[in-house]
Order: sequence, then structure tokens, then C-alpha cells
Amino acid sequence: MTTTLNFDTAPGHQVLAAAGKTILRPGGKAATEQLFAWANFQPEDTVLELAASFGTSAIALAKRFNVHVVGVEKNPDSVAKARENIQAAGLSDRITIIEGDIFQLDKITDKFDYVLAEAILTMQSDGGKAKILSAIKNHLQPEGKFLAQEMFVRSDESEVRKSLSQSIRVNASPLAIAEWAQACQEAGLNIQQQQTGDMNLLNLGQMLQDEGLWGTVKIAWNVLTHPNLRHRILRMRRSFQQQRHNIGYIAFYAKLSNS
Ligand SMILES: C[S@@+](CC[C@H](N)C(=O)[O-])C[C@H]1O[C@@H](n2cnc3c(N)ncnc32)[C@H](O)[C@@H]1O
Repeated sequence: MTTTLNFDTAPGHQVLAAAGKTILRPGGKAATEQLFAWANFQPEDTVLELAASFGTSAIALAKRFNVHVVGVEKNPDSVAKARENIQAAGLSDRITIIEGDIFQLDKITDKFDYVLAEAILTMQSDGGKAKILSAIKNHLQPEGKFLAQEMFVRSDESEVRKSLSQSIRVNASPLAIAEWAQACQEAGLNIQQQQTGDMNLLNLGQMLQDEGLWGTVKIAWNVLTHPNLRHRILRMRRSFQQQRHNIGYIAFYAKLSNS
């Protein structure tokens, strides 16, 4: 593992990525699979992915469903890694990664059959969520579907937000289940189906499911051999554990309210 990251202060997803974690979303691969099942992708459909990170979901989509994906990602290192992964998968003609900010989606003039957003809205303020959801609405075809997985909170919202933000070191503002529906509705999107579950991102069972045996062994090795990394990941894990009765993941799909 080679990285110049400061493990004490870096955003949680960058720390986990440095440890070798490739799936950085609360419901993991299983929730992504549920979104794919709801979507019913057809070959040549178009997908806009927000915060595409290393291109993991984009590659799965293009490979399995023969769709075209445009991914937007802000972090230049993640963009470079995503492009490398896409080229290695032989999917450069199907996936385009734009280095950019999802707060500036108006630079993209196309409308898409799907918009996919995983683990990105929770990081935004209420106003930020509203702005992004409204931009998502503007980028959907009339019959398009918005696919998302995020974190939800059951109770003690302000304490949960404080504890998570301190350990993840990015703004973590999960909404209650009804608030996610309301935020979508206010942006002109109606949730059609949803699934919720426990937040097990850093638990061994989900780690094995998401990263496979070899991936999990690699992560365990990195954690064992890098004390600063271990300290930080254990801190995040402790915070998830402490809040486990108050938080979970929500996966949902929504359509335009007037469709
Ligand atoms: C928690 S990770 C989730 C990544 C990916 N969606 C996944 O599920 O694996 C959050 C990602 O959002 C990206 N990001 C954060 N703010 C962004 C913004 N304003 N515009 C574009 N990407 C952003 C980060 O660089 C990071 O790759």
C-alpha cells in the first residue's frame, strides 16, 4: 500500500479506499444489485452516475447490461483510477468519466434514462441535497428512473450526524426514511420502491460479500501493518457500531412526479 494520505484527517471514503476497499456505499453490493433489478436496463440505455469514484458501478453496468454510462467524479485521483479500470475492462467506448462537480450538472445538457447516485447525497447539507435532486430531475428522460442508495437515521438525528461526521470527517447528514421521500418529492421525484437494511459496511460478513475473500485479506493485511490506518478505521467502525440501532441504508428508485 502506497499513499500520502493523512489517515487522521482524510475523508473516510479515501481512507477506506487506501486500505483497498472498492465498495464505498452503505448497503454495499447487495443494495446496488437491488437497484439494478428495479432498473430493468435495456441495451443502449443511458445512465448518468454521480460520484462515480473508481468506476466500479459504471463498469458493472456497461459490462452486464450493455448500457452507456457518463460518470461525474470530483477527485482527480479517483478519475484517473476509474479511467484506468475502464480501459482495462475494454469499456472505453461505453463509459465516459467527466472530472467535475455534481453541483454543476447544468454543464451536461443531455437527458438520461437513468441517474445513479450511491453514497453521495448523505454527505450534503439539506440545501445541497435539494439542489442535486433538482438537477437529477432535470437530467431524467420523462420515463427515466433515479436509482439511489444512501444512509438513513431512525432517531437522535443530530447526535448521529455529529458522531458520524467526526469519525468519517466529511459532513454526514443522513435523513429519516420519510425525509428522503419528502426531499425527493420537493424536487419533483416520487419514490416508487425502497428497501432498507442495517449499515454493515465495515462488518466482516458484508466485507466478504463486497470485496471477496482475497480483497478482504488484502484489506486486513493493510490494516494490520499500518497502525495509523488501523486506528482510523477502527474509529469509524466504532462509530457505526455505536449508532447501529439508529442508522441503516436505504435503497430506492424514483420517477418524475408528473410521469
Ligand atoms: C462515499 S464515495 C462513494 C463513491 C461511489 N459512488 C461508490 O458507491 O462507490 C463518495 C464519492 O463522491 C465523490 N464526490 C464528493 N463530492 C463530490 C462532488 N461535489 N462532485 C463529484 N464527486 C464528488 C468523492 O470524490 C467520492 O469518490
